[in-house]
Amino acid sequence: MFFKKKKEQTIEKIDPNNLPLHIGVIMDGNGRWAAKRHLPRSAGHRAGADTFEKIVKYCDKIGIKAITAYAFSTENWNRPKAEVDNLMNLLYNYLLMAEEKFAGTNVILRVIGDRSALSDKINEAIDHAIGVTDGNTGIVLNMALNYGGRDEIVRATRIAAENVKNGMISPDEIDGEYLDKLMYTADNPPVDLIIRPSGEKRLSNFLLWQAAYAEFWYSDINWPDFSEKDMERAIIDYQKRNRRFGKV
Ligand code: FPP
Repeated sequence: MFFKKKKEQTIEKIDPNNLPLHIGVIMDGNGRWAAKRHLPRSAGHRAGADTFEKIVKYCDKIGIKAITAYAFSTENWNRPKAEVDNLMNLLYNYLLMAEEKFAGTNVILRVIGDRSALSDKINEAIDHAIGVTDGNTGIVLNMALNYGGRDEIVRATRIAAENVKNGMISPDEIDGEYLDKLMYTADNPPVDLIIRPSGEKRLSNFLLWQAAYAEFWYSDINWPDFSEKDMERAIIDYQKRNRRFGKV
């Protein structure tokens, strides 16, 4: 008689005392996910939206304080009109169904980016969805819509310049801390971790200011295939990093 030796497994777990406070996610690879399946790009975005919902719920459950998801960049307007319309419709339907989408969660929805270029219809849906999550106390979900990191920095600089012009502050009062408070993420904890799936290794104008000391995590998985397990892996990997913030 012989006993089959049990496969040795190292089951790593997330350390709840060392969670990244704020995670940024670049939801990339939807088009490639669809192409692999001979599906239209719209199917990839739809699947990406499902993954987004799943990952936000998971992050809320494990106690992450804030998540910023890159849903539509300032550059995405340059895509074919049909794709832009499709993404806007997807967002609109999601926001309109906020009661259902956020049921059973403690998510606080925010939108970051220049809302002035979004249609009235989308803006009304955003206000509706924000209203639905008003009163929640869990994770802050920043949906980055018509968002660009450079735009955000330009916007902050303009506000600071206006404040100087109006005599509210002197130029030497403008420092990193001052500008930090003028970013869309002023009320959020610092961005500790930025995740980009689909094999690309660039920031693509995402959270440029906030990325100064963020850790990066890349993977070849296309966003629609990104699972809770992948998020767990990313967090465990983050927890092994030696963050020095410029010190030795
Ligand atoms: C980049 O992948 C992704 C986008 C430009 C859009 C991301 C949007 C979503 C995942 C849906 C958001 C909707 C809701 C309701 C949150 P890509 O399409 O450029 O992929 P590719 O590089 O493989 O072509």
